Amino acid sequence: MEGRKRLGILTSGGDCPGLNAILYAILKSSSRLDWKAFGIPNGTDGFIAIAKQHCQPEEFAIDEHSFDIPGQKGMGVLLFLSGSVLGCRGKKRREPQEEELICEGYRRMKLDALIAIGGDGSLEIISELASRGDWNVVAIPKTIDNDVPGTERVVGFDTAVEVVSTALYNLSFTAASHDRVMIVQVMGRDAGHLALQAGIAGGADVIFVPELVAEIGERVIRKTCLKIAHIREHKRKFALIVVAEGVKIANSSEKAGDEAIADSFKRQLREYNRGYCQVESPDFCGLSEEVDMRVTILGHLARSSLPAASDRLLATAFGIRAVDIIARERGKFRRMVTWEEGEVRDRPLADVMSELQRAKQHNPCASPVDPDGFFVHVARELGIYLGD
Ligand code: F6P
Repeated sequence: MEGRKRLGILTSGGDCPGLNAILYAILKSSSRLDWKAFGIPNGTDGFIAIAKQHCQPEEFAIDEHSFDIPGQKGMGVLLFLSGSVLGCRGKKRREPQEEELICEGYRRMKLDALIAIGGDGSLEIISELASRGDWNVVAIPKTIDNDVPGTERVVGFDTAVEVVSTALYNLSFTAASHDRVMIVQVMGRDAGHLALQAGIAGGADVIFVPELVAEIGERVIRKTCLKIAHIREHKRKFALIVVAEGVKIANSSEKAGDEAIADSFKRQLREYNRGYCQVESPDFCGLSEEVDMRVTILGHLARSSLPAASDRLLATAFGIRAVDIIARERGKFRRMVTWEEGEVRDRPLADVMSELQRAKQHNPCASPVDPDGFFVHVARELGIYLGD
């Protein structure tokens, strides 16, 4: 690959803060090398549009000034802007004919390499397409779920922790004013990293993550109730409970990921509380009156905010590394940019995919919270009840 390279860039899967900061770094670095960059809209859908001749490759051409603020003398927005200016809307499952169209679109673009920014699911799809179409690919891991194997950090996670922990802090004032228990449901799909780390940083009293409490049943409800009673007797009248969306509730029709997990938990906790505090042991509870509870589902808020400085740093470092890899490699390559042992590195994408597929044979999440890991230890030492 000599001469002026043609570089495709796409974002795929759920957006997260820092995607545009990756693009910012890629465009700066590739324009210094005088490469031609193409922003593929809406993940692999952009290739289908090219294959179907709905648009021409040159229409996707972008450079470091494509996103300048009008009238602001070359001031760009990409470093700070959340979401993805390229769009992420691509289908998760494809028919074989659609895959063929994607490969056809890629060929028509005449790309030397593609930088694909995605989470575990999107990168799996890109990896398969890349093998099929013989593409050169550099993958950049991003997700608020923090569940991509092979890398210790991903773009977007730090910001999500910041948003959720700030929300917990903010909620504590209204909770305190009404002596309420706030139950806060947090995204993360099948992983509990976001709930655990944001819960610790946001002062939660109870945190439920799928890796530690697969299902909230009667025992967990009872212990939660005792924990709240203890807090109300000895410390304060309000409490914060964080529930990761991947946690299931026993005796409930709600499935993991349903938006009403926390609501269902609230109902069961309230019922148990009523029985326990008013009938069995009102003195112990210090809850002669029923505890008032409210649910907040933070949902997509965790994905959409000014990227934290640490995410902007990681995003730009990953973007620069991706360009470095393409400049460095001779022959065919498929790599993923990683963060390992305090520095940016890269490794074969196929190795990461094998790790992912191996892990998914036993667990829906390829990189779950380690029950013996440091943050679980931290939570326990802080006296946070984790449901086990
Ligand atoms: O994977 C990122 C994520 O935000 C998960 O935490 C969440 O379960 C899912 O995406 C939500 O997806 P959607 O945007 O399709 O509702």
